[in-house]
Amino acid sequence: MNYRKFARQQIQSIRRIVGNAAAISALSGGVDSAVTTVLGHKALGNRMKVLFIDDGLMRQDEPQAVRKAFARMGIKVTVVQAARKFFAALAGLTDPEEKRKAFRDTFYSCLGRALRESGAEFLLQGTIAPDIIETKKGVKTQHNVLDQIGISAKRGYGFRTIEPLKTLYKPGVRQVARILGLPKAMHQRMPFPGPGLSCRVLGEVTPERVEVVRRGCRIVEEETASLKRFQAFAVLLADRATGVTKDGRRAFGHFLCVRCVDSENAITAAPTKLPWAVLMKIQRRITREIPGVTKVVYDITPKPPSTIEYI
Ligand code: XMP
Repeated sequence: MNYRKFARQQIQSIRRIVGNAAAISALSGGVDSAVTTVLGHKALGNRMKVLFIDDGLMRQDEPQAVRKAFARMGIKVTVVQAARKFFAALAGLTDPEEKRKAFRDTFYSCLGRALRESGAEFLLQGTIAPDIIETKKGVKTQHNVLDQIGISAKRGYGFRTIEPLKTLYKPGVRQVARILGLPKAMHQRMPFPGPGLSCRVLGEVTPERVEVVRRGCRIVEEETASLKRFQAFAVLLADRATGVTKDGRRAFGHFLCVRCVDSENAITAAPTKLPWAVLMKIQRRITREIPGVTKVVYDITPKPPSTIEYI
């Protein structure tokens, strides 16, 4: 595939569809929305506003990092504070699909309001082929798939979507990112799901539980960075597990799982054979640095039968 030609065609197509109207692009910190935003910026310049919805479910320091990275490319990013709305929508939910649907509805309601306020008609989003395939197959409701499963973005939220990457898989998106000149750190970054850390919290998603998994993810990412695997993160399980404190008392604490996988396109994945020393270092750091964690396990399941994330 000629990715240079692909990028050129998408820029022309965005320009043609939007015409004289205005658009918004929503960044998540991942490579898909970053590439979509740069394509949109090249097509529309200042007629496209770039938003980053801070849903409280992002990795550590993400909003500031995204804003800085885009400022270096000459693109202004507006951060919308919405964490309270997301936690309110997720409160009390434990069923995975209910959590995904609550996330999706809150996400698009926030965007719908931003679009109305700025008079924009179009939302550019970084949906890619596996998002659509897996949602249609019924594996899970990916946060950014609407029209393909019969939810009209126009009727439900008041805008039309443009999805320039919807025919591509991750390796193709990374190629387009390189051609567009996105920094290496951005196009080589591991995927991060749209619903953020809520995909990595089993049971109820509360600010406290998200903070535990955020710190776990940071440790796992740091300790596996040099190994350059497809994805590596931590997951907070729904139960608690018995442990023992340094002074010999019983502790009944959080139960974290480490996940690291190798994959080409995220449709299938294999668990990474992480060196024992790396696993032990992750375990030591998690139990020392995150208060209340009493057990750390490593997930050795491929996809299928498992999926990469936990909800
Ligand atoms: P699963 O868990 O389905 O994940 O094996 C496959 C890939 O997709 C990411 N993922 C998502 N990305 N919105 C996204 O943009 C979502 O709702 C979503 N759910 C999972 C996941 O991180 C993995 O790379």
